[in-house]
Amino acid sequence: MKIAVLKEAAGETRCAAVPETVKKFVGLGADVAVEKGAGESASIGDADFGEAGAKSGSRKDVLSGAGIILCINGPDPQSLGGAEAGALLVGALDPLRERERVDAYAAAGLQALAMEWMPRITRAQSMDILSSQSNLAGYKAVVDAASAYGRAFPMMMTAAGTISPAKVFVMGVGVAGLQAIATAKRLGAQVSATDVRSATKEQIQSLGAKPIFVENVAGIEGEGAGGYATEMSAEYQKAQAELVSGHIAKQDIVITTALIPGKPAPRLISDAQIATMRPGGIIVDLAADAGGNVEGTVSGQSVDKHGVTIIGASNLARSLAADSSALFARNLYNFLSAFWDKDQGAPNLPPDDEIVKAIRLTEDGNVVSERLRGA
Ligand code: NAI
Repeated sequence: MKIAVLKEAAGETRCAAVPETVKKFVGLGADVAVEKGAGESASIGDADFGEAGAKSGSRKDVLSGAGIILCINGPDPQSLGGAEAGALLVGALDPLRERERVDAYAAAGLQALAMEWMPRITRAQSMDILSSQSNLAGYKAVVDAASAYGRAFPMMMTAAGTISPAKVFVMGVGVAGLQAIATAKRLGAQVSATDVRSATKEQIQSLGAKPIFVENVAGIEGEGAGGYATEMSAEYQKAQAELVSGHIAKQDIVITTALIPGKPAPRLISDAQIATMRPGGIIVDLAADAGGNVEGTVSGQSVDKHGVTIIGASNLARSLAADSSALFARNLYNFLSAFWDKDQGAPNLPPDDEIVKAIRLTEDGNVVSERLRGA
């Protein structure tokens, strides 16, 4: 089985393989071919891949005869000339936004697998690209906030006087939010956090942060299928807005990470609330790409509102390319190796497997994903 690793389009820094995963695939009996320069922006040279046992070549060379094609983002279908019909195309294919590409993958006979649709089950945890990348994004959001903040995070008692600790508020305590809390704590900030899922209260406390929760309003469990949040009632939203208003006015840094699958990000902070923060405050909106949790967020940019800087964080994992590539590449390896059939020397994807059903987009020239057909 030949595995091709593509060089990503401009703007993407990550690479879908690292020398460690190349070695592991070689250990499974596969031949790995990495497109020239694919690892450059993640600090991995062609020679490093070579030492791990991979061949290096042009896009055409690596695609020729490959049964598996690994990528971070779904490639332009026109750049896949020479790919073999039946080959697996595995990566973050963004199927809802890139529907035309999915149709083109089907037409080319590729079997497209969208890794971001991995189900949230224990067996799939090590294959979950959303978690591995969100964790790094949560860390980087706090580091970026600390760097933009004109004051120190920890309390410092010096001969010249005392510096008080920064107050950090994390809104949305999923994978990214938990890492943001942990990072802000490590930097010495006073940390508080909120979520709509009441199960997160204990997690916040266990990290040494203060939970800020709406109480005594119907339906506060906030948890829907697969551990994701549900959209909250109007009554809840009003109570949450009031609670947050009082709290935000006292915060220096706010990190927002709230997402609801398949819906625009919930609006958590209004312009009027930003105006109550003291000048010099920083908001990092990790939901910027999904429409933003904060009024006035511009994805990929920093904007100033009432003296508060709003950082519209877009795909922060890209700015930690070496680590995010390593984790993403391991997610891909963990997925493929879990289905590897040693006798065939290739993955065997049973159609009725929960993972396969969730992530498979195309097969035999057709779009077969129920989620896509229903969209
Ligand atoms: P996410 O990225 O979908 O959302 C981020 C957070 O925002 C969530 O905690 C959500 O409850 C919260 N949120 C949504 N609306 C909000 C609002 N109006 N106000 C405040 N907060 C709001 O979530 P993520 O990071 O993917 O994780 C959610 C849960 O799923 C976690 O408990 C995580 O441990 C679990 N999980 C399990 C996996 C597995 O078992 N394989 C894999 C990934 C996550």
